This record gives sequence, C-alpha cells and structure tokens, in this order.
Amino acid sequence: MPKLTFISADGETVKTVESPVGITLMEAARNAGIDSVAGDCGGACICGTCHIYIDSAWWAKVGEPIDIEQATMEFSEHITPHSRLACRIEVTGDLDGLVLRVPPED
Ligand code: FES
Repeated sequence: MPKLTFISADGETVKTVESPVGITLMEAARNAGIDSVAGDCGGACICGTCHIYIDSAWWAKVGEPIDIEQATMEFSEHITPHSRLACRIEVTGDLDGLVLRVPPED
C-alpha cells in the first residue's frame, strides 16, 4: 500500500500512514485521524475543508486542480500555488511516498 506522510500546519507533527489505493487523499487523511482534513461535504468539492498542500517535489506528479476545485479553494485565506483539495486526488501506487502539509485553519 502507498505510504503517505501528513505534516501538521505548525510542522510539529509528522504522521506516515499506509493507504489503500482507490480511495481519495481526503478519505486517507480521515482514516489516519488527521482531524484538520475534515471533508465536511463528503467529497463533493463544495466545502473546501479538505484543503491540503502538496509537497513541491510531488506537484508535477499530482497535477493541477480542475476549475471547480480551484473555485472552491478561493474561499480559503491560505491558498498557495501548491494547494489542492484532497477529495479530488485518488491514492494510486504512483503516489507512494507522497508528502502533504495541512494548511493553517481559516
Ligand atoms: Fe469537501 Fe473536499 S471534502 S471539498
């Protein structure tokens, strides 16, 4: 199973978990107990509570957000060029080793 590493907003907590393929990064975060990736809308791309930063080394592999995702993220005060919504990204074997950072709370 691919390993995913979540880093808290303050950088103090680093948690590496194994995730099954085929679920989203939002589901993987929730399964891992990453409370700050709430996923309130259940993956419908309307709440923005699964906002996450993709480590720059992984950006090319994960890819750019689609238009509706970008529009949802615009409501965040903490959007960056490496922002994505975790519910829009499927865990695949290619993402083994992926590093994600949790944004500060809005
Ligand atoms: Fe709501 Fe991702 S879970 S936008």
